[in-house]
Amino acid sequence: MAKVRTQFICQNCGTVHSRWAGKCDGCGEWNTIVEEDPTGGIGSGPGKVPKKGRAVTLTSLSGEIEEAPRIHTGISELDRATGGGFVRGSAVLIGGDPGIGKSTLLMQAAAALSRKGHRIIYVSGEEAVAQVRLRAQRLDAANTDVMLAAETNVEDILATIGEGKRPDLVIIDSIQTLWSDLADSAPGTVTQVRTGVQAMIRFAKQTGAAMVLVGHVTKEGQIAGPRVVEHMVDAVLYFEGDRGHHYRILRTVKNRFGPTDEIGVFEMSDRGLREVSNPSELFLGERNEKAPGAAVFAGIEGTRPVLVEVQALVAPTSLGTPRRAVVGWDSSRLAMILAVLEAHCGVRLGQHDVYLNVAGGYRISEPAADMAVASALVSSLAGLALPADCVYFGEVSLSGAIRPVAHTAQRLKEAEKLGFSAALLPAASADMPKGAGGRWTEIDSLPDLVARIAGSKSALRPADDE
Ligand code: TYD
Ligand code: MG
Repeated sequence: MAKVRTQFICQNCGTVHSRWAGKCDGCGEWNTIVEEDPTGGIGSGPGKVPKKGRAVTLTSLSGEIEEAPRIHTGISELDRATGGGFVRGSAVLIGGDPGIGKSTLLMQAAAALSRKGHRIIYVSGEEAVAQVRLRAQRLDAANTDVMLAAETNVEDILATIGEGKRPDLVIIDSIQTLWSDLADSAPGTVTQVRTGVQAMIRFAKQTGAAMVLVGHVTKEGQIAGPRVVEHMVDAVLYFEGDRGHHYRILRTVKNRFGPTDEIGVFEMSDRGLREVSNPSELFLGERNEKAPGAAVFAGIEGTRPVLVEVQALVAPTSLGTPRRAVVGWDSSRLAMILAVLEAHCGVRLGQHDVYLNVAGGYRISEPAADMAVASALVSSLAGLALPADCVYFGEVSLSGAIRPVAHTAQRLKEAEKLGFSAALLPAASADMPKGAGGRWTEIDSLPDLVARIAGSKSALRPADDE
């Protein structure tokens, strides 16, 4: 019999080596070379006749579309983030920092679904049964029919959830604790997590149960994070928030069955997570309207407008390299705004430290916040408070022009609803509401904005006035 020669293939770039090495010559990566059997798989060596494949029926793109069958939790902020509820037969990954509230959210969802008559299984790999029960009591979920197991072995979990009537929803908390007999590495490693998640997804597809997987994200990336399984699941939600603040945001980053720009907003209380249906009121809660350096940004999150305060502090520095610190926004975007202010508006910030903060631990991802940031910076530098009843939005380009952004009408409507009577916005906005009169001021360039804030005192009032 001919000797079977094994191959060593780099898992990163696919280079085939004749012997194992620590570093791949092809891509320079370390520890990526794995021994594989060349007689397996498509295109394997001669002598092995591949099995003839079965032809599947080809179909057209048009035709009947089946609406994904969903399970609504009734927690509207959660349903909004998932795009209308959990989809049967799909797998959702909920990632987030440890301690942010993932287990709390899912216990509340489990209780809500169970009250509606769904069969829910909660598998906890991190906490003992008593701990989960304690939390359930606190969340007023103890009197529901949610079924609980404390288990980490993949085969045991599959046997448990596969027994009896099919569950409607299975929660695995968390994927980092899963381990399988089939993979021979330690629990928490990429191989174990991947094997476990694959088995859970297969169970969901076969039985039609919805699978919710919890994954911790670590900053160091030491433990296999949810990133390695993101491409395997149907939807990925991130639960974010600042430990120092009470509210939490459930953000959709991938969704095969719905939109990906929705957020759900919650507030952590002593009785669990509370839904926040009007986030603007929360983010604008403790505003000091007379302080310079604060501008209200009229933003959009998914389909919903969100008003949030952008705060800037510009202070002279004694350091050779001035400090630039940003919380809640992109720091390279801040560098860009500073450069445009310097190049086109003559605003010199080279001798100043700049601190930028988005109120309440909220994170802005829209470029439309540029104008609010620039306004806050100029206001802080000039020591002049911006008018308290004005909102700002618009994208700043490198040339100093203010570019229009989408959803103008929606932003203005929300601002009006919350008692803001003025707005500075880009000129030529497409969906500008008719007949708005002089309350909405169109700005076409950044120098124009700076002149308005720092130049004409009529539009402003000094900080220490009143
Ligand atoms: P948890 O859901 O255990 O976080 P995760 O599963 O993401 O690790 O929540 C942890 C935090 O939430 C913990 O610090 C306590 C707090 N918490 C409350 O403030 N109120 C509550 O009702 C509950 C259950 C938790
Ligand atoms: Mg937990």
